[in-house]
Amino acid sequence: MKHMTETIRIGAPARARKNFRPATILLGDGLAGNPAFVKNVLAMESYELLRAHTEGQLFEILNSAPVDLIILPSSGSSFPGLDCCRRIKSDRKTELLPVLVVTDGEVESQIEALSAGADDFLPQPVHRELAQTRIRALLRQKSATDRLEQTEAILFTLAKAVEHRDKTTGSHCDRLGLLSLAVGLEIGLAEDDLEALYRGGYLHDIGKVGIPDQILFKPGPLDEEEWKMMRTHPERGEEICKPLRSIERVLPIIRSHHERWDGSGYPDGLKGTEIPLLARVLQVADIYDALTNPRPYKKALTAAEALELMQQETARGWRDPELMRIFMNLHPGSLDMNAWRDAREMQDSLRNLEAHLLQSQSLRESAT
Ligand SMILES: [Fe+2]
Repeated sequence: MKHMTETIRIGAPARARKNFRPATILLGDGLAGNPAFVKNVLAMESYELLRAHTEGQLFEILNSAPVDLIILPSSGSSFPGLDCCRRIKSDRKTELLPVLVVTDGEVESQIEALSAGADDFLPQPVHRELAQTRIRALLRQKSATDRLEQTEAILFTLAKAVEHRDKTTGSHCDRLGLLSLAVGLEIGLAEDDLEALYRGGYLHDIGKVGIPDQILFKPGPLDEEEWKMMRTHPERGEEICKPLRSIERVLPIIRSHHERWDGSGYPDGLKGTEIPLLARVLQVADIYDALTNPRPYKKALTAAEALELMQQETARGWRDPELMRIFMNLHPGSLDMNAWRDAREMQDSLRNLEAHLLQSQSLRESAT
């Protein structure tokens, strides 16, 4: 590996099993300089050890190699362990990596380590069996997180495949993510909900993967049977995404993005505020984007024409009137990316997360 640090493999040789990759532990300098810790605590297992002598090296390694556990000193060394811990835990790309902090024996420093975001701590003098048990537990946790991330990456890939299958929608999901985030920010949604909205932008129509091409791309109007099939896509999408707990906040968006305020929508005929708020937000953005972009069977409306049509639909009882009022006030037609900087930053941050999911999957594949 091209790090300015040494990589050593310790412990028993890795089992000669296909695709077996020993867990990689990244040590902060204060511990790497302590041969007894490595010898007594880690050498009983088969691990790959990476040593970072500075904060810069630590983050350089995190950006270039799959790491399963980070062990940092909290005090008694020149290495800024707690600062690194805070930085790791405040970055979406690294927040799920388990961090173990070696503290002194004082309760205050243990509290300090946990407050900095550490997943666990090891009081000194280090008890070998306790340390090994905690390390194994954190590695099990990391392994479970990896499996979730891989499943999530596969789902997003599938959602993109659905979008690319329909060549007429262009970058609909990207635009939808931005529009939804802007509305979400305007109504003061919490960060978890904003993240769900962004993900919903990609995943809301994932159920269309089960709709035959001759229905999905039919140039003319659908007959009754075809409509019946098309209307199953929210429930199909929910079924696909249901097993993944990490995106459970997105499920109401997937299921309810075709409901109408007056109860005439599908699949459940929900009315008014029975319709989950996030689904209502995504729906407004979805309809606006669909109206203002061309399709083979229709030309794009101008922003003013689209908003006029959406107001007519609101007057008919189809849309949430308060949400429509907020959407109109955002002037989506004169979308100024600078004015919507918060939304753009949130979108960039989530894009980075998505890129990280795919990158960590490919790093992992190349390491096995
Ligand atoms: Fe849909």
